[in-house]
Amino acid sequence: MKLFVDTADVKELETCLERGFASGVTTNPMLIARSNCVDFGEHIRSMIDALIKHDAKIPLSVEVNTTDPAKMADQAEQFVNEFGDYPYLNIKIPIGWNELKVIAQLARRNVPVNCTCCMSYNQAVMAASAGAKYVSLFWGRIRDIGYDAGSVVRSTRESLDRRGLDSEIIVGSIRHLVDVNEAIQAGAHIITVPPKFFPQMCGHPKTDEAVGQFMTEFRAWEQAVQANQ
Ligand code: E4P
Repeated sequence: MKLFVDTADVKELETCLERGFASGVTTNPMLIARSNCVDFGEHIRSMIDALIKHDAKIPLSVEVNTTDPAKMADQAEQFVNEFGDYPYLNIKIPIGWNELKVIAQLARRNVPVNCTCCMSYNQAVMAASAGAKYVSLFWGRIRDIGYDAGSVVRSTRESLDRRGLDSEIIVGSIRHLVDVNEAIQAGAHIITVPPKFFPQMCGHPKTDEAVGQFMTEFRAWEQAVQANQ
């Protein structure tokens, strides 16, 4: 299981990077807006600085912030020029008929694309076929409309494997801890998770019980040894 961090908050990002488990980072325009930054370019740069500081050689997805495909291509170009010194930069392009053209153009130039906002098997497979390195399926949003997110992920994974496509499925839109396990079981290569879930994912009541028991017995043994000296 590969875990990406779904955040545009530099502090949250650093909290995860310090712990070494993150295999990538995804952002989107809404997360940028919620990070309370004042300058987009400077903010992405500060995320890159955090990655470099922690020696994290992991993909960072930066999403275009326009719905006009012609402008998307220009913006993608601009991101590559501005942030392409970070060798693991990915450009996030939402799925769509005209957007596929942008994805294919970038892929032909070997610019890694994360095709985002996919809600269906068709969308994900078309994006992968167009050359997207990652296809992002939005678990929570798929379920919002009563669809079975597990079966969308499962059928996408089967198709990618059957056709020998290299694209990896990122499952995003994680709303509950259980989504992570279900998405992995459904065949996601990667889950991108809001940072608030990670401490919970790392904990377990039986771990607390085991550690507590080890400490209790060790302290008792220490005291007994001291008493016998
Ligand atoms: C993934 O790349 C997206 O940033 C994110 O997971 C979207 O999820 P949301 O449904 O919480 O907006």
